[in-house]
Amino acid sequence: MKRSFKRILLALAMVLWANQVMAGGADLFLEKCMGCHSRKGKAAPISPADKSSSVWEKYFKRHRHPVDLSGMISEDEMKLILQTLKDHAADSDQPTAAIIPK
Ligand code: HEC
Repeated sequence: MKRSFKRILLALAMVLWANQVMAGGADLFLEKCMGCHSRKGKAAPISPADKSSSVWEKYFKRHRHPVDLSGMISEDEMKLILQTLKDHAADSDQPTAAIIPK
């Protein structure tokens, strides 16, 4: 009885963890980037398919973004966001603007 309860807890923890890891980048993109880059925000709307994967890769590393985001987005969060941008870049298998809310 006790053992199976532990197993259920463990399984649940793994599902939650997997969810976070997989959805992380897209969620962070919506939460952190769209605050400014949306129709109601101050900056023009953007989408992962705006640029190719290699352009995204260099964009933040070379500090091309006009606003310093380091105080708002941690390095770990930025890695996840960058992965989402590249996964859905113009030259990716799934170029998309679909994760942008209307
Ligand atoms: C604090 C507000 C803010 C946040 C948060 C923000 N941006 Fe920006 N971004 C701007 C502003 C302001 C500009 C320049 C004006 C414009 O493009 O409308 C800009 C410009 C850009 C451009 C250039 C647009 C172009 O057409 O060349 C890209 C690409 C971009 N941001 C991507 C991102 C991504 C990706 C994120 C999330 C990691 C992000 N931004 C988060 C404010 C923000």
